Amino acid sequence: MLTAHFPNRILFGIGIINRIKEELLLLDGCKSILLITSPGMPSRIFFPEILKTIQSVVKNVQVIATLTPEPDDKMIEMIFGQIELKNVDAVIGVGGGSVMDAAKLISCRVVNNEPFVEMAGSNLVKRKGPPILLIPTVAGSGSEVTHEAVLTDNDSGTRYALKDFKLLSHCSIIDPSLLTTCPKVLIATSGIDAFIHAVESIGNLNANVFSNLNGLQAIKSLKEGLVEAICDVTNERALNQISLGSMFAGFAFAATGTAAIHACGYPLTTIHKIPHGQANAVMLPYVIKYNLQTGNYYDSITELWGTKNLPLSLLQLVNEIGLKTNLKSMGIKIDELEKLAEIAFLDKRHLSVNPTDISLDILKNIFKNAWEGNLD
Ligand SMILES: [Fe+2]
Repeated sequence: MLTAHFPNRILFGIGIINRIKEELLLLDGCKSILLITSPGMPSRIFFPEILKTIQSVVKNVQVIATLTPEPDDKMIEMIFGQIELKNVDAVIGVGGGSVMDAAKLISCRVVNNEPFVEMAGSNLVKRKGPPILLIPTVAGSGSEVTHEAVLTDNDSGTRYALKDFKLLSHCSIIDPSLLTTCPKVLIATSGIDAFIHAVESIGNLNANVFSNLNGLQAIKSLKEGLVEAICDVTNERALNQISLGSMFAGFAFAATGTAAIHACGYPLTTIHKIPHGQANAVMLPYVIKYNLQTGNYYDSITELWGTKNLPLSLLQLVNEIGLKTNLKSMGIKIDELEKLAEIAFLDKRHLSVNPTDISLDILKNIFKNAWEGNLD
């Protein structure tokens, strides 16, 4: 079986942000735009020009620049409460994955009154909201091309996802040159997250010809661009590669979901506030090492990479881009591992598509290996 969802339009390339005016003019009768972004974005060098262009086409533009990373449902409701526009004809998200997810959720909230948690899962959004335009300024989440929005439940602290084609963007404008002012650490954490999306889509019970093709292209692009981009964030070729990688990884995992690495990474983010990409990166070699004990799920990656020891090559990549490779060095205490494993074990959404079964005991062992940095 194969189900694939795409945005209505994707514009990709260095300098393509200049096409935003044409895209806005295509939105017939658009008089009011809500622009969602993060607090640091208005001071980024490209932002005033983007805003000016939008304002030259649409009269009423409200900018809400209060979105912080990994938002919970309370924050999205708070942003919804800040809308001053009489009508919202379109929602634009300028920023990273959290911003793009928030733009999707706000568009959804404009026409749906149900609590987000009641729309968690697949195809539970009743009405399609105003058109969404997404402009990623970070390469990683793939949210610019997916039909998914992730948020944290304020009560339980757990992360959940809404998946619905009604959350797809009307237009995604992916301009790699917007990444030139992105902090290196963000390029690393977001880029490795995209890489993991591709790995977990290839090694996945839902894998199919479409997701494998996109996943492998994502790995090729990210492997070529990520280290180069960390060395020089002005290297346009490298930024192009990681932006492509993020997009292809988005296509791949939107068709399959992600697996055990994400199940292990989420409690590190919700409990210890470790950024999503770093949380996944530190678990990556150890989960892959376990999965490889039961099958050759990653042969295509191993072949592309030309490595005889995939877990070790993955650990070296994480190290090369300046991220931590064991939990001990991140300040996690050894007596906290059991709880992390127990929370990860509850994440059936991700564990159920992992290519092999993972019991609680195995998860405890994976967390122990990740704490020690043990790949033996
Ligand atoms: Fe992710």
